[in-house]
Amino acid sequence: MNNKIDLLEAIGNTPIVKLKKIIPENAAEVWVKLEGQNPTGSYKDRMAVSVLKNALDRQEIKTGDTVVEYTGGSTGTSLAFACSVFGLKFIAVTSDAFSKIKHQSMAAFGATVHVIKSDNGNITPDLIQNMKNKAYELADHPNTFYADQFGSVDVIKGYEVLGKEIVSQVGDDIDVLCAAVGTGGALMGTYNGMVYLGSQPRLIALEPLQSPTLTTGKGGPHKVEGIGLGFEPPFLDKSKLDSVRAIDQNKAFDMCRLLAKAEGLFGGGSTGLNVCAAIEIAKELGPGKKVVTFNCDSGLKYLGSHIYS
Ligand SMILES: Cc1ncc(COP(=O)(O)O)c(C=O)c1O
Repeated sequence: MNNKIDLLEAIGNTPIVKLKKIIPENAAEVWVKLEGQNPTGSYKDRMAVSVLKNALDRQEIKTGDTVVEYTGGSTGTSLAFACSVFGLKFIAVTSDAFSKIKHQSMAAFGATVHVIKSDNGNITPDLIQNMKNKAYELADHPNTFYADQFGSVDVIKGYEVLGKEIVSQVGDDIDVLCAAVGTGGALMGTYNGMVYLGSQPRLIALEPLQSPTLTTGKGGPHKVEGIGLGFEPPFLDKSKLDSVRAIDQNKAFDMCRLLAKAEGLFGGGSTGLNVCAAIEIAKELGPGKKVVTFNCDSGLKYLGSHIYS
């Protein structure tokens, strides 16, 4: 039994599983990293702790200060958790377009939660801009730190160990790493960690077909939380990308339900979208190859939402 002493040590070292039942014959292996097993049920715990710990170490913030971020709620829950551990206050700007359980989780960790109204529950470029404006306004105060999930280099750094874990679990002969992109931090940081350990996977970014900013230049309304934000995230280094694929959100939500029932793997919409793409790529690659993707977060966050209602 490996007893952890510091709660932050409970982050990472997540299991990785090979899909067994829903993979067609003559397809490559599909490996899914179970990031829902982090303390708040999301891979965002990795970036939240990296951002805050580095800011504390550099004395950009101190105990008792306030952290601000706009968030769909996964990053917010991870930041709220990390703020609780580090003795910081947290203000989240979010929206009713995102799962209520995420609002409640942030509040449970002591955050102040501002909810911006969406157009009919849709995630749109305008909504994201309104959330951002509100967060900038709230961050413009003394002793207040804007976490900057779209710009802080500590976000990418926080995910490098995730890439190293994958290589040590699956080997360095990984053919493709594919993942849906919000900030792009998880995809790029993981890739850097894999490359560091000698793996050279093709890197494939994913987005919802309903908000195809990266493939067509134009975003739109959709319902996959955490991704497809209607602008090109600055972290996404196109020189490292092999390609971008747009995946239908309805197929992603169907995949969530199938994954839970057939494989026992319980995730949110971005996980469903990741696995849809990973299987598509696995079919193209054929046997003897390896595709890796993420279970970004736990399906528990989406109970009562349109995916699992
Ligand atoms: C549920 C979920 N999946 C995927 C992502 C995308 O991760 P990243 O921002 O690292 O690209 C996010 C980001 O908020 C998310 O909340």
